[in-house]
Amino acid sequence: MSAHRRLDRGERIVIATHNAGKLREVAALLAPFGIETVSAGALNLPEPAETEDSFLGNAGIKALAAARAAGLPALADDSGFSVASLAGAPGVRTADWAMQPDGTRDYAEAMRKVMEAAQEFEDRSAWFSCALVLAWPDGHIEGFEGRAMGHWVWPPRGAKGFGYDPMFVPDGGAETFSEMDPAEKHRISHRARAFALLSAACLPRG
Ligand code: IMP
Repeated sequence: MSAHRRLDRGERIVIATHNAGKLREVAALLAPFGIETVSAGALNLPEPAETEDSFLGNAGIKALAAARAAGLPALADDSGFSVASLAGAPGVRTADWAMQPDGTRDYAEAMRKVMEAAQEFEDRSAWFSCALVLAWPDGHIEGFEGRAMGHWVWPPRGAKGFGYDPMFVPDGGAETFSEMDPAEKHRISHRARAFALLSAACLPRG
């Protein structure tokens, strides 16, 4: 018995993102389950402000806004990087730490800020989080969070990843997320873990 609400094969859902890369990635994950996707951008849905202090809270805001506006179930994600000695910062502000005065994002600079704030602490523990929230137009929501635990390193290493990948080594490994093969990262990442929980609970059964 489960209280989760499940999508049906052939159902169409909104991916509540205006980011083309995320849309492609999520559409590819959902395709094997027979779920059709349309993006919030394609439907001209507004982007709500992310005002919550948790990944699940912010993913929930995005998913509910899209579901209500489109009249379809909607899936949103929110993710970020956390450092234990910084009480989980940058956390929900992960993208903001990369923001430059001219409005562009500079991740080399953002990683340096993290290192400068955290270098005085012996504890180097860090993790990535990914929250996925599926919302329906009637307000029902299902939320799942996945984490990849590890530690931060300096200097950053590798060129295969994005964002904060070059300064993160997952537990049990020696390479950063940016040195390893992307397929390996996708097997163990916070996003993969969140998606596994979502699919077990809410996607159509084989
Ligand atoms: P948002 O989920 O689009 O709000 O942004 C999340 C922030 O976390 C961005 O700054 C990303 O670069 C960063 N981030 C999320 N997932 C990853 C990851 O897998 N590797 C590196 N950085 C990530």
